[in-house]
Amino acid sequence: VPDARVKGIAESIRSIRDFPKPGILFRDVTTLLLNPKAFKDCIDICVERYAESKIDVVAGIEARGFIFGPPIALALGAKFVPVRKAKKLPGEVIGEEYSLEYGTDKIEIHVGAVNPGDRIIVVDDLIATGGTLGAALRLMERVGGEVVECVCVIELPELKGRAKLNGKPLFTVVEFE
Ligand code: PRP
Ligand code: ADE
Repeated sequence: VPDARVKGIAESIRSIRDFPKPGILFRDVTTLLLNPKAFKDCIDICVERYAESKIDVVAGIEARGFIFGPPIALALGAKFVPVRKAKKLPGEVIGEEYSLEYGTDKIEIHVGAVNPGDRIIVVDDLIATGGTLGAALRLMERVGGEVVECVCVIELPELKGRAKLNGKPLFTVVEFE
């Protein structure tokens, strides 16, 4: 059965043409945050899904995974681990590179933030090509974590990001063509 809350969430996400580059239709979650009912519904949907899943770690990807990850982690009684862009974390780090349209980028976590055997969900606002989420997934698995599922508020299915997740399941709240 479709979730009656999803429509209000989808309608609260603003779309902006030609940002950050011509031809990109940018899906802007800042307007979802201005609607407390829709923001709470979005968090609740994710929390309900993993309430019985014994999640140890919610890993949130910089920057917008830092908005949705922490309330989910608190509600689940899980740790929150920030997955940051390279050279931002002060302690010893382990990183993973991923390809962009031009060149590569890198994400990092602190050594010791994830323990072998930890049950993890990886959270971001949006999956486009899947490069970012795929790299976060590889990073979690390299430190011995068990990624139960990846979670994004928004999926752009035309960009086939799921194919970059190495068979790992992905849960998304809304899809935009
Ligand atoms: C956006 C978005 C995801 C990523 C998705 O972040 O928040 O993290 O792109 O794209 P992909 O599936 O093609 O990898 P962005 O790279 O714009 O960084 P920011 O959150 O730091 O602005
Ligand atoms: N990241 C990659 N593609 C995006 C889009 N269309 N809207 C918002 N964030 C994105």
